[in-house]
Amino acid sequence: MRIQQHPILNFEPAEEIPFYFEGKKLTGKLGDTIASALHANNIRMLRHEHRPRGLFCAIGNCASCLMEVDGRPNVRVCVEKLRPGMVVKIQKGNGTLGKEEK
Ligand code: FES
Repeated sequence: MRIQQHPILNFEPAEEIPFYFEGKKLTGKLGDTIASALHANNIRMLRHEHRPRGLFCAIGNCASCLMEVDGRPNVRVCVEKLRPGMVVKIQKGNGTLGKEEK
């Protein structure tokens, strides 16, 4: 699901980028955040902590969209740009300590 037409914005065609979500190969567009690429693929649940969670602020100010990306937990996917070949997983809980970058 993507906005295709808008009264004041133009959407130029963008290069497709492959990435993986829960082991499934998907595609996003160059310039997407991880969250926008997931939403374009109809994926709304990004994290599970006590209940399913999805986008909330969409500007990097909360913790609703934390996911595991390339083995790194607690990535705010609403502001993290999509890169080719990324491996994205639903994060359950707070993520595993010791797997974070130091
Ligand atoms: S949705 Fe709030 S930080 Fe991403």
